[in-house]
Amino acid sequence: VVDIRKFYAQTGQFTYDPGFTSTASCESGLTYIDGDQGVLLHRGYPIDQLAEKSSFMEVSYLLLNGELPSQSELDTFTNTITRHTMVHEQLATFYRGFRRDAHPMAIMCGVVGALSAFYHDSTDISDPEQRKIASHRLIAKMPTIAAMAYKYSVGQPFLYPDNKLSYTGNFLRMTFGVPAEEFEVDPIIESAMDKIFILHADHEQNASTSTVRLAGSSGANPFACIAAGIACLWGPAHGGANEAALNMLREIGTPDRIPEYIARAKNKDDPFRLMGFGHRVYKNFDPRAKVLSKAAAEVLDSLGISDPVLDTARELEQIALKDQYFIDKKLYPNVDFYSGVILSAIGFPTTMFTVLFALARTVGWVAQWNEMISDPDQKIGRPRQLYTGPTQRDYVPVDRR
Ligand code: ACO
Repeated sequence: VVDIRKFYAQTGQFTYDPGFTSTASCESGLTYIDGDQGVLLHRGYPIDQLAEKSSFMEVSYLLLNGELPSQSELDTFTNTITRHTMVHEQLATFYRGFRRDAHPMAIMCGVVGALSAFYHDSTDISDPEQRKIASHRLIAKMPTIAAMAYKYSVGQPFLYPDNKLSYTGNFLRMTFGVPAEEFEVDPIIESAMDKIFILHADHEQNASTSTVRLAGSSGANPFACIAAGIACLWGPAHGGANEAALNMLREIGTPDRIPEYIARAKNKDDPFRLMGFGHRVYKNFDPRAKVLSKAAAEVLDSLGISDPVLDTARELEQIALKDQYFIDKKLYPNVDFYSGVILSAIGFPTTMFTVLFALARTVGWVAQWNEMISDPDQKIGRPRQLYTGPTQRDYVPVDRR
């Protein structure tokens, strides 16, 4: 086995791997993906089992601590998270500085980054106890911050968390409840939402997680690191894809227009891509998409909604899976293809989709960040480059250029 660090040091060489398609940036014990087999495991547990049998709180504990909790460990963890759900009262004034039509992701970047100004005590990353508190604060406050972003955009008053409710139930109430009325959490929606949170909790070294690790490698505080992750997640090739996928499905409108869009996706001169299709790692299928395809039908059925977008999605999937272009390029529906259909049925506007992704992914981000900071060999991330600029030349005074 070659010690790659010694090899580089001796030869002065480095690898050029744009997009990091075959370069591991770290060691991690959190999440395993086999892209060819369509396997996703968290701490060894298959994602479909977790989505079917577990809860987001339990998966959060698992990702942070490495093992499934006992009942009393789960109760203590849930209680700790619940106790951190409130945000500093002054944080509400941040929202008022944004335009009402601001994208909620823009608000999230700013507000989450600002948390470090309110929770100085948990910015001491050398103290494992403070790192734990920062992690709990972030997981607990994200639903409150996300719901406030939504409330601000629709001009309704913010709702305080109700700590009698579950993590997910509380989020739904803060988002869709109004102060003057009782809010009943619909168990079907609560369970579907919790499943979506589980499916988005972690996904090894994707762009936003790598961004969190890179920011954290310099010793930046956890709130700043998560804000960096949110900024990266916003892109349409990453977390913004479910918003883009639903917009695309709505634009297609009816199954008879699918061939037109398939032809566009295959046309090299057209920048259009089928949103919600393809994945950097999954070259067989995305196991999360399978769970969500089923959940989408269940939610729509139980809510008594008949949405032509789901029919269009199903038909598009069937046509694409038989098309030689998609077969050759190993392009399958990813997690974003069906999540938008469910979220829209629940009542979220498309601009909130990536916010929900960020909320759920926060647990993966903090677990990855903790894993990195706890590593005694951790170094600042500092990629090299392949220089393509001019060779050395002498400065020419402005009057002689
Ligand atoms: N529609 C049509 N063609 C596609 C698509 C697509 N959705 N995705 C990839 N291709 C084609 C590319 O044009 C390229 O063709 P070429 O080899 O002829 O140049 C080939 O497949 C490989 O594509 P790359 O972009 O090189 O593959 P990469 O692994 O870098 O990209 C990505 C993965 C970004 C997810 C891509 O498939 C894509 O843009 N998909 C649409 C956006 C999307 O759904 N993103 C969500 C990702 S999952 C997540 O973030 C949770």
